[in-house]
Amino acid sequence: MAFYSEDIIEEVRQRNPVVDVIGSYIHLQKKGGNYFGICPFHNEKSPSFSVSPSRQAYHCFGCGKGGNVITFVMDYENCSFPEAMDILAKRAGIDLPKQEYTPQQKKDADLRTTLLSMHKDAALFYVHELRSEGGKIGRAYFNRRELTEETIRSFGLGYASQHNDALYRYLKEKGYTDEQLKESGLVTLKETGVYDKFWNRVMFPIMDVNNHVIGFGGRVMGDGEPKYLNSPETKIFEKSRNMYGLNVARRTKESYILVCEGYMDVISMHQAGFTNAVASLGTAFTEQHGTLLRRYTEEVILCYDNDGAGRKAILRAAPILKGAGLHVKVLNLMPYKDPDEFMKNLGPDAFRERIRDAVNVFLFETACMREEYDFKDPAEKAAFFNKAANRLAKEFTDPIERNAYTEAVAKQYGIEFDILKRQVSQIGNQIGLTKREEPEPQAESGLQPASALPRKKKESGNVAAEKMVLTYLSDAPQVYAAVEKWLKPSDFSDELMQETASALFEQLKTGKVDISKMMDRFLENDRHDEVSAILNSRFMADADDAERRGAFSDAVRRILLENCSRAAESCEDPMLAMELLKKKQDIQNLKLF
Ligand code: UTP
Ligand code: MN
Repeated sequence: MAFYSEDIIEEVRQRNPVVDVIGSYIHLQKKGGNYFGICPFHNEKSPSFSVSPSRQAYHCFGCGKGGNVITFVMDYENCSFPEAMDILAKRAGIDLPKQEYTPQQKKDADLRTTLLSMHKDAALFYVHELRSEGGKIGRAYFNRRELTEETIRSFGLGYASQHNDALYRYLKEKGYTDEQLKESGLVTLKETGVYDKFWNRVMFPIMDVNNHVIGFGGRVMGDGEPKYLNSPETKIFEKSRNMYGLNVARRTKESYILVCEGYMDVISMHQAGFTNAVASLGTAFTEQHGTLLRRYTEEVILCYDNDGAGRKAILRAAPILKGAGLHVKVLNLMPYKDPDEFMKNLGPDAFRERIRDAVNVFLFETACMREEYDFKDPAEKAAFFNKAANRLAKEFTDPIERNAYTEAVAKQYGIEFDILKRQVSQIGNQIGLTKREEPEPQAESGLQPASALPRKKKESGNVAAEKMVLTYLSDAPQVYAAVEKWLKPSDFSDELMQETASALFEQLKTGKVDISKMMDRFLENDRHDEVSAILNSRFMADADDAERRGAFSDAVRRILLENCSRAAESCEDPMLAMELLKKKQDIQNLKLF
């Protein structure tokens, strides 16, 4: 971190308490001395993300991510160290001194900043064009789509004229270079010259959650192909990390977010008062979208088009969303094609009713499945109910919920409730049994989210002992005096463990343990997650005080004995061997407390 002095980094950290900062991104609940929440970095249903005020650090026991307030902002905002410093300094009202970047860093940071300001300029340009004489047809188009002046303004809608280099010339005049423009995706380089990507279209700026324009969608104002043209992915525009409308929807007070397919759906819904609507950006739903939504809500209502493609999209998105720990419902738009049409014809009150009537996506999936079976054939009918029972058993772990859905399915497809219920519980029991027999059934049982984490490698007892020791020392610095003369960083097994031990021991010697500060040192080589895992031994988190002390003593002995034995094995000098033997006995008799 050559570009900021340690002092300024420390000041930024100190004036941004980790609980306040992380608490402003995700919901945290106090449990004992720590806070817990749903991890923003992986998909999970129950909170395993912990934030420690005493350490000024966080750690996720699920995915292993961890660090201090700076690494959190870097990971969450997907930004560089200087950018994170910037955000945090602003938040705390600190003026950062001008910094010397390495050339590459300067280039990267500069390019991002340039692209953001270029997109802002482009968006303003398109807005200006819409309001100009030439923008008449754009305005007429939006009028035809019944958008109000207010809506057009709040979504920053614009217009790209027939001239196929108007934006290019404007941006050049503003001082952007061809090289920068090339990186923006706003222009296309051809042998004959440089041309705007968007022309003769109405323009929809795409914003990230912080209201930066990061890309555009442009629609033809009539029929024509393609209907929408979108910005390509660039340094600032990652489609699976953003959703259209989320910059507004994230602030909703509703307990759910409405997810639909198109730009126009989002705009129409917002205009009708449903400001919690978002759309994926013309791409298939990804796990990252799921995680992103989970940051802001617990429930998603899918308002996809009422056609084959929409239906397919629901079936694809549902497992991903469920995997992210979201409740998923499906809204019925019948007889209209999409939310935009629905709103125009039936209006917001009717839409509100449809929200109330939205069904759990399970019932939607079951209905789709039903179509694959011919109920006139008893064998197929039976197969359908078996499959349905199977899914009921697997998807609903809560018995009350399971019962309710079993009842709904029985009623809807004409089978006696008791019979279906018996079948469901039988399968439930079987799953229960196999679960006990095989320790890790997650792979295909469907019980775990599709995104279930890769299984952790089982660590050797020694590594576990080393982690335990470092975890305990970082929590209970007073203990260090008892082991100081025994334990050296070199006693630890691998390089990172040694480096962690040495950093921690340095602090312990001065009597001032500051885990958060220590993390800065591992930021540079991007190993803060691993160091966080070392300092968050799972066992230590669950144990009580006496257990911790006991485990600590055992672990210290184990590490020292292991090292002693190893030294003895390779030792050829009999005198030294004797000494080692003596040392071994001392260790065995070692009483720390
Ligand atoms: P739709 O065709 O449903 O568009 O595609 P829409 O938003 O309802 O637009 P209108 O009402 O016809 O004007 C849904 C979304 O799929 C992406 C866009 O994000 C669009 O909003 N899409 C569609 C494209 O990216 N390119 C296309 O050519 C078509
Ligand atoms: Mn549509």
